[in-house]
Amino acid sequence: MGAALVKIILGDQNLIEAQTGEVLEIAAIAVSDLSAHRPSWIPRELLTDDAFSVVADPSIDIVVEVIGGHDPAKALIEEALRSKKSVVTANKALLSEFGEEISVLARSQGRDVFYEAAVAGGIPLIRSLKVSLAAERVRRVTGIVNGTTNFILSKMSEDGLGYGDALKKAQELGYAETDPSADVEGIDAGAKAAILASIAFGRQVQLGDVFHEGITSVTLDDFEFAKRHGYTLKLLAICEWIEGSPGAEGSISVRVHPAMVPVTHPLASVRDAFNAVFVEGDSVGELMFYGRGAGGLPTASAVLGDIIDAAHNLRYGSMERHVARPVARILPIDELDYQFYIAIDVLDRPGVLAQVATVFGENGVSIMSMEQVGLGSEARLIFITHLAKERAVQRTLAEVRNLEAVKRLVGFIRVLGS
Ligand SMILES: NC(=O)c1ccc[n+]([C@@H]2O[C@H](COP(=O)([O-])OP(=O)(O)OC[C@H]3O[C@@H](n4cnc5c(N)ncnc54)[C@H](OP(=O)(O)O)[C@@H]3O)[C@@H](O)[C@H]2O)c1
Repeated sequence: MGAALVKIILGDQNLIEAQTGEVLEIAAIAVSDLSAHRPSWIPRELLTDDAFSVVADPSIDIVVEVIGGHDPAKALIEEALRSKKSVVTANKALLSEFGEEISVLARSQGRDVFYEAAVAGGIPLIRSLKVSLAAERVRRVTGIVNGTTNFILSKMSEDGLGYGDALKKAQELGYAETDPSADVEGIDAGAKAAILASIAFGRQVQLGDVFHEGITSVTLDDFEFAKRHGYTLKLLAICEWIEGSPGAEGSISVRVHPAMVPVTHPLASVRDAFNAVFVEGDSVGELMFYGRGAGGLPTASAVLGDIIDAAHNLRYGSMERHVARPVARILPIDELDYQFYIAIDVLDRPGVLAQVATVFGENGVSIMSMEQVGLGSEARLIFITHLAKERAVQRTLAEVRNLEAVKRLVGFIRVLGS
């Protein structure tokens, strides 16, 4: 992505100056391997493998960190801020753990740290939440914020590929890493959810606060059921404000998991590697942001907007508004009410359905619909529950698994309300 940023800055210098009044000059480009092959537009004379010398250079005003990870990115950002430089970063992994610490350091130095590209790549989301919706009472942010998993789920839904084949396709096309675990386990989306929740609700939310469940267990059978009942399947990052009792502080739920999404929901139509984020607020109502969440040029576009804001602030001696964020009260997923899709393979013999339904009933989990599919000597029971507490449903499943006639749990997916 760094190479795409250099391409835009060098290629669009006149446009940037005409539209923003800022003249950007690239002073140095730090890389890890000086001998690596680079695109033709990268000025060789600007390359260095000593990133710390760049952040220490007094002639540089703004440092752009697009290395990723914690080390050495965190130390470089801190050093840059201490040297009175503003910082632009796309580093969700770092910000989802140290975002507040870095913002506090920036404020103490009178400098900015901007990170528009860290969530949903090219979509102008962070600035919209921070600036345009600064005083909005945001209730919920629901996003498809991981393009890799959205691509995999789209291929499963539209081309009938199994999870493994869809993942392979994503890897062939460069959408998934050789080790895809951060994407498919929901960790990448979890980092983005933590950042979004922090901004939307003005509280410190960290990656460790986010419940995350990935897409590795989603099957074509789940899609088949979803289609027949007016749903599709998406990996969602959901950040929700839950009011406390009168006089008490509210709490925040932040979770990432696959969900049955009604086909009528705006997020249902987001296909392939696209990202979209649906924001609900008291005054503004419903908003939807849609675009490319990754890729060199879209991400570089977001980084460039940040650089221009940082340059503007440096020129006029101003800085971004920063309000200290108290630590969030996190509501564990156990406490949430959801509808659930549950598929269980059982021995096909009289009385089994009644046994299973009794366990649901004893745990206070009410069944909204049930269908039975014959599988020879076995049968599949597929339930959609009414709203039920996650804790009660987990207890139900633990007990159902212990029934002698129950062979396996083959589907468990939360259902998004329409
Ligand atoms: N790519 C996207 O679509 C996208 C979207 C949103 C956010 N982001 C975020 O952007 C960041 C970068 O992602 P990326 O995909 O561009 O990664 P990348 O392709 O791996 O690029 C990382 C760059 O950092 C350089 N680098 C690594 N260690 C270094 C060190 N110690 N000193 C100096 N330079 C070093 C590498 O140098 P060499 O070239 O010599 O290897 C490479 O140029 C990550 O935080 C990522 O989460 C990326």
